[in-house]
Amino acid sequence: MKEKLQKIKEEAVRNIEASADLSRLNDVRVAILGKKGELTAVLKSMKDLLPEERPAFGQLVNDIRADIERKLEEAKAALEEKELMLRLEQEVIDVTLPAKSNRIGHRHPNTIALEEVERIFIGMGYEVVEGPEVELDYYNFEALNIPANHPAKDEQDTFYVNEEIVLRTQTSPVQVRQMEKGKLPIRMIAPGRVFRSDEVDATHSPSFHQIEGLVIDRHITFADLKGTLEAFARELFGEETNVKFRPHHFPFTEPSAEVDVTCFKCGGKGCRFCKGSGWIEILGCGMVHPRVLRMSGIDPEEYSGFAFGMGLERIALLKYEIDDMRLLYENDERFLRQF
Ligand code: DAH
Repeated sequence: MKEKLQKIKEEAVRNIEASADLSRLNDVRVAILGKKGELTAVLKSMKDLLPEERPAFGQLVNDIRADIERKLEEAKAALEEKELMLRLEQEVIDVTLPAKSNRIGHRHPNTIALEEVERIFIGMGYEVVEGPEVELDYYNFEALNIPANHPAKDEQDTFYVNEEIVLRTQTSPVQVRQMEKGKLPIRMIAPGRVFRSDEVDATHSPSFHQIEGLVIDRHITFADLKGTLEAFARELFGEETNVKFRPHHFPFTEPSAEVDVTCFKCGGKGCRFCKGSGWIEILGCGMVHPRVLRMSGIDPEEYSGFAFGMGLERIALLKYEIDDMRLLYENDERFLRQF
């Protein structure tokens, strides 16, 4: 019995010393001290001994058990220390490395310009509304007094989905949709994407953005139109800006005008930016045509209104002095970072 105990102990010590990690060490512990372990088995066999031999033997088993437990504890502490060191070594941080710079995104110049325009009109009590980009031919053309044979419907300009559906060529159809709702008065702007079958160049893109405006109420006159757009232009381009209304033609307004502002680069003297004229065109506008009002269910004898429409990209290009519209779409960071 004693020799057997001695052998168990020697083998245990050997196995403990050979354990390369904590999990293997635990296996060794279970194999010796566990319920079905070797030492436990020896203890169980004590019943075969003579009663007077039992106390001494019991003592011996306990001593050996204590020895083995101590060895296990020591080995465990050593292995834990080793694993900690290894981890510290792997997780070492080189505090002398240059830090990674955090690059934070920001609004696109188009968005900055749009939010500026929205801020100005919201300040004048306008509501911001939206309409569909895939639009009925009726809203995009017919209801805006652009009949079937009108050149603006030319296939070169318009993406037709089918005979009745187009990608809207302008944000003006949102005027009609808003008027049809029947809630008056109306004071709205409608920003959004529009589409035209155009080749890409410095000033054209098959997809760009417009901001539409519409006011309908009793007693609205051309003076309201002029005052509103003048206030808008001064707020957007600066207090010293002058505004000029040039007669023009749009099918859905009568009378119609295009609006020029004094070149903010040269103050009106004439420069490369305004091509020597001192003026820069920013939008189209006019008094809503009585026929358009009537088609949308509004009585032109009782109500009148004005409308305007501008190209968002054009405003962004002017405001930030960008000379090629393609830069707004290419998402080249060297460009976008500058805003
Ligand atoms: N929809 C016109 C265009 O795309 C712009 C425009 C002109 C809108 C005059 C208007 C307006 O509301 O009154 O060229």
